[in-house]
Amino acid sequence: MILLLGKNGQVAHELQRSLAPLGPVVVASRQGEGGVRADLAAPASLRDVVNQVKPRLIVNAAAYTAVDAAEDDEAAAVAVNATAPGLLAELAQRIDATLIHYSTDYVFDGSASHPYTESSPTSPLGVYGRSKLEGERAIEQTGARHLILRTAWVYGRHGKNFFNTMRRLACEREELSIVNDQVGSPTWSRHIAELTAQLIAQGLRDADYLAAHAGVYHLTNSGQCSWYDFAKAIIEPLPAEQRRCQTIHPIPSEAYPTPAKRPAYSVLDNSKLYRTFGLKLPDWRVALHQCHSPT
Ligand SMILES: NC(=O)c1ccc[n+]([C@@H]2O[C@H](COP(=O)([O-])OP(=O)(O)OC[C@H]3O[C@@H](n4cnc5c(N)ncnc54)[C@H](OP(=O)(O)O)[C@@H]3O)[C@@H](O)[C@H]2O)c1
Repeated sequence: MILLLGKNGQVAHELQRSLAPLGPVVVASRQGEGGVRADLAAPASLRDVVNQVKPRLIVNAAAYTAVDAAEDDEAAAVAVNATAPGLLAELAQRIDATLIHYSTDYVFDGSASHPYTESSPTSPLGVYGRSKLEGERAIEQTGARHLILRTAWVYGRHGKNFFNTMRRLACEREELSIVNDQVGSPTWSRHIAELTAQLIAQGLRDADYLAAHAGVYHLTNSGQCSWYDFAKAIIEPLPAEQRRCQTIHPIPSEAYPTPAKRPAYSVLDNSKLYRTFGLKLPDWRVALHQCHSPT
């Protein structure tokens, strides 16, 4: 049995489809709509769900992801992103289950000029990144069998994300100004889910190999771009009747102030994932093209 947490999120939405061929999946959400409740801010609900489901595998795709709101809501971000993952790992260990958890490029400060590896020093710029890093450490400290998949710039057709926002704004406005001095790797939620399912399939075939290679892995679509490049790549292929926007202006981050500071450069080096499991994701432009017209 697989227990999937975070039902309504972008990645969890895709995981529901990708995990289905691997066996029975129990999908839990914060409010418990559909029957199964797991609120990461309520430790008792996590104990209850793990005790009831007794999963072989817990996939935690739930998180406090509101990067700006977290700046004024540190206790909530820490409860969901740090304390709860630690508890999930502890619960997984007690029943000999594996935990798959997602983390973020925002554990880095963005001062690098070449892709970050899993052993690059972390130094989050804000509350969200700090809380996610604490979550990684809390999982590691339990000694539970785990994979922590750090991803970045997640988008997809489902959910609140840059891809959907740009498509909407392109219909509403004639001009857009988009930040051009933050560089990262846009990553399609479907690709994260499909690669996670491939990792699980390998783990089901060879649990010892997975156990021996527990740890942190970087997992993004390959290549890099700025938010401005990404916006252009989202908007330019839209048919004329879906597109009012004719001009996209590149602007510096200072012209678009946000409560949380973002890393200027957060490209992740995915080679450990490939070396260890033989898995990698395509270039972000290929992924975006597929997301524009998914099957
Ligand atoms: N989005 C990105 O750009 C990005 C970048 C790097 C890493 N990541 C990581 O990737 C993972 C998946 O992110 P995502 O983009 O799929 O996130 P998302 O779309 O924002 O979804 C997060 C989900 O977590 C749920 N959640 C929040 N608080 C909860 C709580 N107390 N109890 C239970 N569920 C709760 C939300 O539930 P509600 O629907 O009820 O609010 C939502 O369904 C996360 O670990 C995130 O940190 C994301």
